Amino acid sequence: MSNFWSTVASRTEPYVPGEQIDQEDIIKLNTNENPYPPSPKVIDAISKELDRKLNLYPSPTADQLKAEIAAYHNLSQDNIFVGNGSDEVLAFSFMAFFEPGKAIRFPAISYSFYPVYAKLFNISYEEVPLNRDFTIPVEAFFQSEGGVIFPNPNAPTSIYMDLDGVTEILENNPDQVVIIDEAYIDFASESATSLIHKYDNLLIVQTLSKSRSLAGLRVGFAMGNSDLIEALTRIKDSFNSYTLDRLAIAGAEAAVKDTEYFTATIEKVIHTREWVIAEMKKRGFHVLPSQTNFVFACHYNKTAEELYTKLKQDSVLVRHFKKPAIDNYLRITIGTDENMEIFFEKLDRIMNAEKSRS
Ligand SMILES: Cc1ncc(COP(=O)(O)O)c(C=O)c1O
Repeated sequence: MSNFWSTVASRTEPYVPGEQIDQEDIIKLNTNENPYPPSPKVIDAISKELDRKLNLYPSPTADQLKAEIAAYHNLSQDNIFVGNGSDEVLAFSFMAFFEPGKAIRFPAISYSFYPVYAKLFNISYEEVPLNRDFTIPVEAFFQSEGGVIFPNPNAPTSIYMDLDGVTEILENNPDQVVIIDEAYIDFASESATSLIHKYDNLLIVQTLSKSRSLAGLRVGFAMGNSDLIEALTRIKDSFNSYTLDRLAIAGAEAAVKDTEYFTATIEKVIHTREWVIAEMKKRGFHVLPSQTNFVFACHYNKTAEELYTKLKQDSVLVRHFKKPAIDNYLRITIGTDENMEIFFEKLDRIMNAEKSRS
């Protein structure tokens, strides 16, 4: 810490993202990226935009992109806010809807950026323990003092809460904003977007990073009542007018329009996920019921730390969180079928080497 640091710089505890290793032969299953490239139409749109006017600022409102997102979700443009990855949209949401001095609630096992934002913006929080089966205890989120935020499906558990649970949380927090972080919703049963017209306290945040294969482009968005969207716009316009660059806007528009490619990619990931779950169970893993593009699993007699380390030595990266209650679990992103076959080959080698030694 330096004498020159502000109290904000001093009190924050920055988020640590999953490792990004630049090595050709690595099987990267640690940050929930999509193993498939984005739609060819995205590349085309970005190339065309590159030929245009990068010397000029992009649209500060990105209206065309908002219109595409609104059309896809059966909403109107004033229900949509866009930003530089959903992380930025989440950060703006903390500023727009949560108040210092009024404790917000989120699950104790959840996206680890939430406590980081809370500390950054000086917002107190209660971490609600999960049920023994890692589901979110719905009633524990009723009557929060300052608001609620949780991912649905939850990360890193991969478990989905049905819309009855979501509705109960909304109805029991009528004066607070409930933020649902739907980063992985396209791999799950049903989004809560249909509830936006009924609940003016509902904000849904989604991303193009996972299901649309665009983690590198950094585009996320929020959907909600127009009053909530206006608050987010006020924050953005007090921070940076152009959070999305020209290439991101062009690529994102093309991605949202290409429903056919999107649906086919999701189907492939879900198909592989179901196969991976079955294969892991055969090998003695306990796998939580996943509705995401990753699985969360532990082995009955191998520690997660050992498996993580040995897989890494063999060029397979998965995610291990050294956190109470989940430190014996591994979070494994679903790759292509080929990626996952190599993963199982290497896993089996590690498990069999252990067996022959004991
Ligand atoms: C639950 C959750 N929310 C939000 C994000 C952020 O996504 P992005 O900033 O890439 O849109 C992630 C990324 O892993 C996530 O797991």
